Amino acid sequence: MSLKEVYGPYFKIGTAVSAKDLRDPQAQEILKLQYNSITCENAMKPRYLLDENENRGNAEKYDREPAVRFDRIRDCLEFASANGIGMRGHTLVWHGQTPEWFFMEGYRTGEGSVPAGRDVMLARLEHYIRSVLEFVQEQYPGTVYAWDVVNEAAADSGGLRASRWTQTAGEDFILQAFRFAKKYAAPGVKLFYNDYNTYLPCKREMIIEHILKPLLAEGLVDGVGMQSHLLMHSPESAEYDRTVRAFGSLGLEVQITELDIHNAVCSERSMEELAKRYREIFSILLQAKKEGAANITGVTFWGMRDETSWLTEFRKETSYPLLFSGNFMPKMAYHAVMGVPRVHYAD
Ligand code: G3I
Repeated sequence: MSLKEVYGPYFKIGTAVSAKDLRDPQAQEILKLQYNSITCENAMKPRYLLDENENRGNAEKYDREPAVRFDRIRDCLEFASANGIGMRGHTLVWHGQTPEWFFMEGYRTGEGSVPAGRDVMLARLEHYIRSVLEFVQEQYPGTVYAWDVVNEAAADSGGLRASRWTQTAGEDFILQAFRFAKKYAAPGVKLFYNDYNTYLPCKREMIIEHILKPLLAEGLVDGVGMQSHLLMHSPESAEYDRTVRAFGSLGLEVQITELDIHNAVCSERSMEELAKRYREIFSILLQAKKEGAANITGVTFWGMRDETSWLTEFRKETSYPLLFSGNFMPKMAYHAVMGVPRVHYAD
């Protein structure tokens, strides 16, 4: 049995993949065996899809209709569609990994450069979303089943994050982005709002009241993504559970989109603790799903194995946060996750 088989009755199991993973035959085998969903860790972000040379070289021509290039995502889309694996599209609109020049008048940066106005930015936003969705839907129909339309727009303190998007397009950029996504998404493609630290009470409330409810009122959103970059003791399990249920009670799909648990000690004891923490998280998710308290439709791990996790660079210490290590050796955490539906929830 594999992860996707054990969790098949409940939700999809996914992983983030890097361009390197996709070229590695061993990683490809693990992808086919264990997962029924993949997310490009970086390649589908605006930084990699916006064509810098074209746009900046012909700024007048592309001022309201930015040029987009797709060479960096073809491999992933090919692999997914050839192997019947679904993809989460990550991400259309984000303040991160979106080049500074994209927000500027004439795509100019440096001395004397000026942020573009709302009218131009909304035109760029619509054209970008339209280009990306149409490419993916026409060339690989049915492969991308969900999009993180907007990523990380809320601040941890509970307000809207101030960013180049709020500064240029305006504070309603989330609503605008979802309207465009809804306009161009193929029927059945699910539109998600995705964020981290969603279990901080004031951030969760802000997301519900000021992001999700306005989107729901216009019928624009299908789901909420809880990234879930967790620590060993934070958030508390009860708070995580409350969050899953709070989002679930809105009637939206809930997906865990970037799960990992930072752990900087690789001793056997520490890896046992990691396994226990994973067991708790998956128990919360399965329980909520089985009770009908949250329509959890997918859980995606943020990376395939410890050695390539983003956390080591980010935390400035070696992290051991995932289910596999080395040559895709399953860790105790893998067996713990596999055991949750078998042991505790067998019908
Ligand atoms: O592409 C450049 C390459 O040209 C350059 O030579 C190299 C040198 O450092 O850097 C490469 O860019 C790196 C990029 O990943 C691709 O490998 C960036 O430095 C690095 O900062 C970037 O990190 C990514 C990070 O997002 C950026 O914010 C991580 O891999 C990726 O895991 C992470 O993913 C995010 C999600 O999208 C949103 N939620 C949080 C999550 C973790 O930060």
